[in-house]
Order: sequence, then structure tokens, then C-alpha cells
Amino acid sequence: MLTRVDVALGPRSYPVLIGSGCLQELGATLRAQGLPQTNAFVITNPVVAPLYFPILEESLSAAGFQRIVRHEIPATEEGKNWEVFSATCASLLEHFPDAGASPIVILLGGGVVGDLGGFAAAVYRRGVPFVQVPTTLLAAVDSSVGGKVAVNFGGVKNIMGAFSQPRLVFCDLGTLSTLSARELRSGTAEIIKYGAVCCQSLFEDLEAGALKKLLALDPPTVVDIVARCVKLKAAVVERDELDKLGIRNVLNFGHTIGHALELSADYALTHGEAISVGMVAATKLAVHLGLCDTAFQSRLEALLREAGLPLTHPGHPELFEPMLKALQLDKKFRNGRNLFVLPTAPGAWQQREDLPWPLVHQVMQEAIAAQPGTPL
Ligand SMILES: NC(=O)c1ccc[n+]([C@@H]2O[C@H](COP(=O)([O-])OP(=O)(O)OC[C@H]3O[C@@H](n4cnc5c(N)ncnc54)[C@H](O)[C@@H]3O)[C@@H](O)[C@H]2O)c1
Ligand SMILES: [Zn+2]
Repeated sequence: MLTRVDVALGPRSYPVLIGSGCLQELGATLRAQGLPQTNAFVITNPVVAPLYFPILEESLSAAGFQRIVRHEIPATEEGKNWEVFSATCASLLEHFPDAGASPIVILLGGGVVGDLGGFAAAVYRRGVPFVQVPTTLLAAVDSSVGGKVAVNFGGVKNIMGAFSQPRLVFCDLGTLSTLSARELRSGTAEIIKYGAVCCQSLFEDLEAGALKKLLALDPPTVVDIVARCVKLKAAVVERDELDKLGIRNVLNFGHTIGHALELSADYALTHGEAISVGMVAATKLAVHLGLCDTAFQSRLEALLREAGLPLTHPGHPELFEPMLKALQLDKKFRNGRNLFVLPTAPGAWQQREDLPWPLVHQVMQEAIAAQPGTPL
């Protein structure tokens, strides 16, 4: 039994199907969705492929797929770069030079596979259909939905990319059972993000025990929380598909300082860990500005702590200058200002571009100070 959440974008609408142990149904589901291709180009990585590619391949074969090409990219964020993207495009062209035999692209993996592979599918022949098959918690609740596809370039996160919606997101939450504890925790950062700025009831449910059950991979809780997060993301994306109206900025909570840290620390932190530190820093900014109370800050920090996520990245004062540089290269840096999404209460937020630099510097320094929680 699959749970269905629709992303309503007119002609680019698609369903997100969520289940557990359902990967072998992918082929039949593609047919049921009216996708007629007989060739598939599966982008995955050396960690995920041995675990799940055979099931996926068998499912596609059973549904009448004839050529199934497996293409692997590196298993880390460092591999989300232009060279790997280019090699992926080259492989698409090499295997499918005939426009009449164009494949469906299937993205089997976490956010790195989804972002890089989705970008290759978006530009190959000006776009071939693709399907997201997320295998991390983070990809299930966030990166597989919404159509932002990209690679890092020139030291800037996701600066080369496109908007291109998948035809289907097919989420087998059974795949989360092989995820490392660290990657599972990392995915909860984006879930806590949704609760903190998009949905008070999600925030409260996480506090009331859902986070604990989620970390234990309690099946009904995982399906319920993933479906709720996907609905929240779909609602934001439906109102601001191309990130032009400011509505989609809400999803950037924790990402301004978080992305700067993720890049500057040379990927020593996972995306979720960096975002966790970024959310704490943004919340401190909100408290300093009188936009939210310290009680909210304490509740957010308690949730992140319970998830096993870092509140700071202590002992790395040398990252201050690189982080400042990274902030100025941020995608949303304009007219000399960074965009900050600041929480105001559970499920509510404001965006600000006028923050005083000394205050921004102070919270950044606290995030990386020699002693946790103290300024340099
Ligand atoms: N496009 C968007 O809207 C969006 C939103 C949020 C994040 N992102 C991007 O997503 C990326 C982070 O994604 P991620 O956290 O999924 O990281 P990831 O793709 O690097 O996956 C994390 C690790 O888990 C491994 N893995 C994946 N599935 C597994 C499984 N089922 N069992 C065992 N190991 C498995 C991977 O090989 C990798 O080593 C970042 O690049 C971030 O910028 C994009
Ligand atoms: Zn993110």
C-alpha cells in the first residue's frame, strides 16, 4: 500500500509515492504512470548500487524495459561537481546517441545522485524524463521533491543548475534500514527545519516522541513524517515553483550559514549537520533581533540534540574567513547582503536582508569557537 502526495504544478504535476519494501514495484508503477520508455539510464553510486540496483533492474525488466544502463557517480558531496556531471552527460550520449531510443533517467540514491543526475537529465537533449528514487531520509523529505537540480561549482553550493521536475518520486522507505546512523540523523535536520518554520504541529509532534520513533525507524512514524514533510514542501513549491516570489525561501532556514560552513569545512560535516549548526545560528540572530524568544531557541536546540545533531562546530576558528567568503558567494547574496530566514515562533518565519554584519559575525564566531558557545 503506497501513500500518495501530489505535487500540483499544472502540466508538470507528479505524484510522490511512499511505501516500505516497494522497490520491486517501480517498473509496474512507471507503466501505470503512463511512462512508455523501454530504455533506462540509472544513476546511482557504489554504496547504493550493490544494495538496491539488482531489485530495481529486475523490476524494470519485468515491466518490459530492454536496455538498462547503470551509471555510478562518487558517493560523497565532493563528487557533486562539474567534472562528474560532465562525465554523466558523456555516458548518456555514449549509450543513447539515437533520439528515438531516449531513456528514462532513474535517480537511485540520496540528494547528491538526485541533484547531479537530475541536472544531467534536465539538460540532455534539453530535457529527458526522470524519476527520483530517494534512498536517504534527507532525499525522501526534501531534495527529491521540488525540481531543483544542481551541482556545486567554483566553491559555491548548487550554483550551476536548473528547475526541472521529475515525472515521479518513488520512495521506498525500506531502503533507510541500511543507512548509517549518521546519515539518518542528518536527514532529521531538514525534518526539524520543516517543523521549526513551516508547521507548528510537526514541531510539537517531534518533541512529543515522533523524533525518537523516527530515529528508531518505526515504520508508521517514518511513513507519516515523510508524507507530512513532502506535503509541506509540495505546498511551498506549488506557490513558488521557480523561487521567484520569496515563498520558497522558507526552505532555506539554516542554509545561509549552514552552506558556508558545509563548504568551508571541506565537507567534514554532512549537509544535515551543517544545516543544524546553521539553524541554531539563524535562531540566535532572531533572538538578538527580538523576533523570537529564547524559549523557542531552547526547544529547537533540544530537538537537534535529541537527533544527535551538532549545535556548533567547535574548535574551528580558522573557518571564520573562509565562511565569510563563502557567504559572499552564496546563491542568494545580492547587493552586498545575505538573505537570512529567521524563525519567529514554531511554524513561523521572516526573511531579512538587512542584518548588521557585526551581529552576523558574532553568531558565526560562536558557531566555530574554540570553546562551544563562546565568542572568539
Ligand atoms: N534539490 C533540493 O531541493 C535539495 C534539498 C536539500 C538538500 N539537497 C542536497 O542534497 C544533498 C545531500 O543529500 P543526502 O543527505 O541524501 O546525501 P548523499 O546523497 O551524499 O547520501 C549520503 C550518504 O548515504 C549513502 N546512502 C544513500 N542511500 C543509502 C542507503 N539506502 N543505504 C546506505 N547508504 C546510503 C550515500 O552513498 C552517501 O554516502 C546535498 O548536496 C544538498 O545540497 C538538495
Ligand atoms: Zn538542505
